[in-house]
Amino acid sequence: MSQGSPSKTAPLCGRVFYQYVTKDGKRIRIRGMCPEDKEQLINFYEKLSLETIYTRFFSIIKYFEPYVERLVKSTGCVIVAEDLDTGEIVGVAEAIPEGDKAEAGIVVLESYQGKGIGKMMAKAMNRALYERGIKVVVGYIMPGNVKALKLVKSLGGRPVKYYESMVLVEIPIRPPDEG
Ligand SMILES: CC(C)(COP(=O)(O)OP(=O)(O)OC[C@H]1O[C@@H](n2cnc3c(N)ncnc32)[C@H](O)[C@@H]1OP(=O)(O)O)[C@@H](O)C(=O)NCCC(=O)NCCS
Repeated sequence: MSQGSPSKTAPLCGRVFYQYVTKDGKRIRIRGMCPEDKEQLINFYEKLSLETIYTRFFSIIKYFEPYVERLVKSTGCVIVAEDLDTGEIVGVAEAIPEGDKAEAGIVVLESYQGKGIGKMMAKAMNRALYERGIKVVVGYIMPGNVKALKLVKSLGGRPVKYYESMVLVEIPIRPPDEG
């Protein structure tokens, strides 16, 4: 099994974490991002609503090419969810390791939210980060973001600091067998 070199760009490319069917019949593959995903990733981000973009990035981004350019060249962990019937990318989770910590962000296309895809990407990310020796993941979430806060809680994480418009959360990285 490839564990992804920390110095290589797109280190999780070629790695399939999960392939399954959602309760409503969508065939989903959770896999490492590859440089060849660039155009698909731009399409994905450009399809998101302004509200989802703001919830993920805390700002409105309209032109995603520079962001995706950095993402595909990143040596961090980037995981995508792909709808196998349409070939579309429908979710992205990314984490930038620094020492034994990593800062992460995650987003799922609105029409695919609430189907467990965020959770499966987060589980895959836990596995990838565990293999890189990461002990804890941090992230920023809006205080009213129920889905994201539930996701954090279900992964064993918790809010650790409240700011005016965001909450800092921490999630411990567990051995993959512990779920
Ligand atoms: C947060 C986000 C990534 C979660 O992904 P998702 O695929 O929608 O979430 P899942 O279906 O895996 O569910 C995650 C948790 O939210 C809960 N949930 C899902 N939809 C919900 C809804 N409409 N209302 C309340 N809770 C909901 C699920 O029950 C699950 O909790 P559980 O594990 O305790 O059962 C996704 O909603 C999203 O992209 N939001 C916008 C961007 C964002 O907020 N990113 C986080 C900050 S970086």
